[in-house]
Amino acid sequence: MSVQVSIIMGSNSDFPIMKEACDMLDKFGVSYDVHVVSAHRTPDKMFEFAASAAEKGTKVIIAGAGGAAHLPGMTASITTLPVIGVPIKSRNSIDGWDSVLSILQMPGGIPVATVALDGAKNAGILAATMIGAFVPEIGQAIADYKEEMKAMVAEKEAALKASL
Ligand code: RP5
Repeated sequence: MSVQVSIIMGSNSDFPIMKEACDMLDKFGVSYDVHVVSAHRTPDKMFEFAASAAEKGTKVIIAGAGGAAHLPGMTASITTLPVIGVPIKSRNSIDGWDSVLSILQMPGGIPVATVALDGAKNAGILAATMIGAFVPEIGQAIADYKEEMKAMVAEKEAALKASL
């Protein structure tokens, strides 16, 4: 059975961050699977995954990696699906900028929708938003989430004013 979103990451050490994408997809009712695929350690597996994802029915790929983070860009160069890149401040990352720039600074023609450093939560929301543009119940779940945030900000404002 196909899933709407595939989440890939360079190592299982990326999962504590990437789990935040899973949590958001769960919240919005988006189906997904999770794989460890390394651009450097398993280039053949990366190619096979990226080349077959669309025909399996996946609609969006979220790819997380740290350090010399080539997985999102290389995956985007192979697949016809949108790729959301998550730069991770991994233990082999100097300061996180290496991860960010490896994923962000793609050449023209091969876009990767890059979220913030360790920004897997937003990657999950963005993927759900893409699916929600075509699947009404997921679009509604996104609309409900925005209402939740509005209520949360109102609560924060009330708490601030009550503390003065
Ligand atoms: C990257 O190297 C992975 O995406 C991970 O962020 C980092 C470290 O991997 P491990 O050495 O923990 O397997 O390719």
